[in-house]
Amino acid sequence: MFSGKTEELIRLVRRAMHARRRVQVFKSALDTRCDTTVIRTHDGISFTADAVADSRSLEAALKPGVEVVGIEEIQFFDEAVVPLVDRLADAGVAVIAAGLDLDFRGEPFGFMPRLLARADYVVKLHAICKQCGGEASRTQRLVDGRPASWDDPIILVGACETYEARCRRCHVVRNVPPAHPALGLRTRAPRVRPAARSESHPRLGADADWPA
Ligand code: TMP
Ligand code: MG
Ligand code: ZN
Repeated sequence: MFSGKTEELIRLVRRAMHARRRVQVFKSALDTRCDTTVIRTHDGISFTADAVADSRSLEAALKPGVEVVGIEEIQFFDEAVVPLVDRLADAGVAVIAAGLDLDFRGEPFGFMPRLLARADYVVKLHAICKQCGGEASRTQRLVDGRPASWDDPIILVGACETYEARCRRCHVVRNVPPAHPALGLRTRAPRVRPAARSESHPRLGADADWPA
């Protein structure tokens, strides 16, 4: 989360519209963060979209001759969205989907691995870790200020009141099952300071070049 997925979806859809392609954008009705006719970035930029209950309603709402289909928060759909996207792509429709690859536990989000594997192009975006300023590939869920537990429900709609971007090291999950390979890593990883900017991004130069 907070990596700019919705922004990127809107950018690509706008490009298609400039190219005068027939575009439809959908979101899941589960996403109640903003009203049902728009998708919104964390910076407050919004774009018109139709909320649909599931992949069947999405298919039923497609207009004849549609050339580009945008799908926001695709991880909220049912699994049948994967073959639907494939069929649309086979029929020459460009499908631009934005979604989370990992859930709050840092595990693959439902059917997303299958969707990613079938996609012709994948762009993986990263946010900035709220704790250390590193590259964030995980989403930390916080319940009453505490890290969520492994067996909490996967779907919990929310934004910065419940979630924050974290890197692999700063991401914490409580009650990881003892047999899970992630346990050793998550409990034993040293809480080291993030690498200096000059180490992690050599092209940015030495820290001395930057204000403290
Ligand atoms: P975002 O990708 O636009 O930031 O929104 C992600 C949505 O997914 C947000 O409503 C929170 C939700 N979510 C879950 O339901 N389960 C999860 O495990 C995570 C990480 C996010
Ligand atoms: Mg978003
Ligand atoms: Zn971090």
